[in-house]
Amino acid sequence: MQIELVTTRDGSHSLYRPDLDEQYHSAFGAIQESMHVFIKCGYDAIPTKKLQVFEVGFGTGLNALLSFLKAMEEQKEVKYFSIEKYPLSPELTNQLNYPSILEPGSSAIFENIHQSAWDVDIPIGQFVLHKIHGDILTSQIPSGNDLVYFDAFSPDKDPLLWSEEIFRKIYDSMNAGGVFVTYSAKGEVRRRLISCGFRVEKLTGPPGKIHILRAIK
Ligand SMILES: C[S@@+](CC[C@H](N)C(=O)[O-])C[C@H]1O[C@@H](n2cnc3c(N)ncnc32)[C@H](O)[C@@H]1O
Repeated sequence: MQIELVTTRDGSHSLYRPDLDEQYHSAFGAIQESMHVFIKCGYDAIPTKKLQVFEVGFGTGLNALLSFLKAMEEQKEVKYFSIEKYPLSPELTNQLNYPSILEPGSSAIFENIHQSAWDVDIPIGQFVLHKIHGDILTSQIPSGNDLVYFDAFSPDKDPLLWSEEIFRKIYDSMNAGGVFVTYSAKGEVRRRLISCGFRVEKLTGPPGKIHILRAIK
């Protein structure tokens, strides 16, 4: 599969899939978008010292690195599950500039996040990473999730992933009070989340996006 390295407007890298004509992050800024949608509107909304995260689409590992850095800063215990159907090659992930922008000392951690084995627990201090090599459409989702980062390709490019069936599967995997965040605020996405039982909020988006969605179980 052809995947190209691109630089977004905040200077951070992203990837581009020519077959889908789709980028992994906003062209306005990959780090800027992930910090806003997943960390500020998701991670920061969970007050507990211990939490379990489930991410749909591990991709570049940016959300995992940001969550790791937050967990270290706040001394939180985090179990981080992330599912990915198409793991990236080390040739690509070695080029990503996230550690040098975020925290120069985090290059070894970022390398570990990528090079560590799939489908096993990888403890990195108080942060336990568990990457699932699988397809969200057919895989079992771990239960006990407090926070879900729904970071699939857009509903226009990958509609099956944004179905009510998948949202219900995720809803069932979450603890009461759990938080689901995604960068899309499409009406049909919002309506499907509500049909599953979530209480859905529209929040201000990062630059380039008016709104994003946060759904509470
Ligand atoms: C928008 S990208 C974001 C990835 C990642 N969160 C990041 O920040 O780089 C979507 C990701 O979902 C993955 N993906 C696509 N279809 C999938 C599926 N059916 N099951 C699991 N992952 C999938 C893609 O390969 C890609 O890595």
